[in-house]
Formats: sequence, structure tokens, C-alpha cells
Amino acid sequence: MTHSQAHDVQPPMGMLAELTHRCPLQCPYCSNPVALERRRHELDTATWRRVFAEAAELGVLQVHLSGGEPALRPDLPELVAACVDAGLYSNLITAGVNIDRARLETLAEAGLDHVQLSFQGATPEVTDHVANMTGAHARKRAFAAEVTAVGLPLTLNAVIHRINLHQIDDFVDLAVELGARRLEIAHAQYYGWALVNRAALMPSREQVMEAVERVEAGRERLQGRLVIDAVVPDYHARLPKPCMNGWGRQSLNVTPSGKVLPCHAAETIPHLAFWNVADHALGDIWYDSPAFNAYRGTDWMPEICQSCERKEIDWAGCRCQALMLTGDAAQMDPVCEKSPYHDEVQTLAVRDALGVPDFTYRRFARTTEGA
Ligand code: FES
Repeated sequence: MTHSQAHDVQPPMGMLAELTHRCPLQCPYCSNPVALERRRHELDTATWRRVFAEAAELGVLQVHLSGGEPALRPDLPELVAACVDAGLYSNLITAGVNIDRARLETLAEAGLDHVQLSFQGATPEVTDHVANMTGAHARKRAFAAEVTAVGLPLTLNAVIHRINLHQIDDFVDLAVELGARRLEIAHAQYYGWALVNRAALMPSREQVMEAVERVEAGRERLQGRLVIDAVVPDYHARLPKPCMNGWGRQSLNVTPSGKVLPCHAAETIPHLAFWNVADHALGDIWYDSPAFNAYRGTDWMPEICQSCERKEIDWAGCRCQALMLTGDAAQMDPVCEKSPYHDEVQTLAVRDALGVPDFTYRRFARTTEGA
């Protein structure tokens, strides 16, 4: 009997490969864990090559090469080539401040398919302030020009929050000016380090509504020229986001040291143990590991979700958020208006939106495991 016959589980389509947690930026909304993994624990080239081959065999189609900053790995071109050899579509998710033209050409020659570039603001003042790096905005603009010059498709990604939420029209204009085909507007999610700064980042409900309108206006204005994807903020919402499109349904994350997670923030759920690619084949982890099976499907859901018509639309929301806000990862996401915690979360969002203006920058050296 195959794994999928045993569990009626479909193979994953996408894999986030977190090549390193090291990063030149210090964004306060970083959703990586508070305790980052150290360089000496990072998987080597040969192991990543094996993981990519196993991912393709498992059914994965796309690999997102991410971090931290994946370009800090000297072997990045070899890792891109390994994706190509495995038949995987490769997307580089980068801050774009440390890749020069020669390196970019090497990556393109290795077979890189796509670049996703983050902007912390739509203007130099905001980008440099949020990233805590003088000149970051200018470097990102120059990098974007190089990406299109070498013929790679470009997506811009903007994580928005109270500090840059007024810049949505400017982000749209920036994406068009830089030749991006796609713009992702993603509201900050409060996991990992971002949670430390929630009261400095949380927008008000009015700001969120305004942002939603500006995204819609941008879509209308640029129909056919720019695709705009928006990830809505959910603390102010009535329905939860279908986090990961369901736990263990479509994608997996591999951390720099090889732990395989159902979502980016899964390590915040303390009773789950995550299998490592050093000890298990990726297919065994996907189908058989207890962490992936913990919240798969709908059987684990509380009764109120079991009888909800949206149970296979919302998948009961986000497990990590449920744990963070209710103390129980098997609760429905309290963003849902049917949750007994819903009013509490809305009150918390309103309170945080009035919160302190100052945030704490993420600094790698201070927040590493065993440092
Ligand atoms: Fe972990 Fe949503 S971030 S399930």
C-alpha cells in the first residue's frame, strides 16, 4: 500500500526551502522564530540536492528558495541547478541588497525561474527605516533593474503594517515602474519576531479598510498590466484565513537545519515534534510524521467547525494563531466570529492599533539558538 492510499492525502505542490536564517536586514515584522538557527547547523549542498530530488519525486512542483537571505549561501547557484536537475520551478525570495549583476547572471544561467523581491517601503525613507539599512531602497531598485535586464520575471513583495500602510498606491506605482509582473501586498502576520512588535505594527480597522480599497483601485487601474495579490490582515476580520490552505494539504517548509514543518510558524506549537530530513525521507515525513497528521483534514476540529459549511474552505483557520491567542492549537482560529474568543481578539487588535510607535529591530546575533 502506498503512503497516499494509506492516508488519503494528496502530495504537496510547493516547498519553502529556508536556506539560512541569516539576513542583512532587521525588519521588525520578521516572522521567523525568535530563536534563529545558526550557520553551523545549516544543511550542506549535498543534502539540499537530495531534498530537492525527494521533493520532486513526492510531487512538489515549485520550490521557494528563502531565508533569511538565501543569497548569503555561497552555493546558491548550485542549489538552483539542483532544482533544475530535479525538474522543479525555482523562485528566489530575496531582499535584493547583496546580489550583484555577475551573481544574478550566474543564477540565471543555473536556471533560476523567478525572482521575488521584498520592499519594506515604497520610498527610501520608509524602506531604509523599516529594514534598518541605509541605502537599502536604492540597492533594491538597482537590483530590480538587473533582474528585468537579465530577463527574469519579477514579483515585488510588500509586507504592510501601520508604518507603511499609507503607501499602497506608491507600491503599485513602484511595481509598474520596476517592470514587475506581480505585486504581493501582504499584511504582517504576528508570529515569531513580529509578535514582539505587534503593538507597533497593528493597523486600525479604518486603515485596513482604506488599504483594501486602495488595492482594489490599483487592480482596476492596472488590469492586464499588473497582477496584485493581497493577503488580508485577519485580527480585524470575521472569518479566519485558510492558513496554508489547510495543514499538511499543499505545502511544506524545510528549515535551515532540515526540520520539516507544515507551516512557517509550526515550531511555536510546543507539543509537536518535527522530523528532520537527516533522519527521514521527505515522503515519509509528509505522509507519516505525527506533526503533519496532527491537524490534517477535519477530524481533529472542534464540533462547531465540524458542523460549519466553511470547514473545507477555512480549514478552521490558523493553528499557530489559535495556540497563540487561546492557548490551544486545536481550537478554532479565534478570528472566526463563531469563536468564544472572537471579541477578545477584536478588542486586542483595537488596543494594539493604539499601541507604542516604537518597534524592536530583529538582530540575528542576539536571537540565535544556543548563542
Ligand atoms: Fe502555522 Fe497558520 S502559521 S498554521
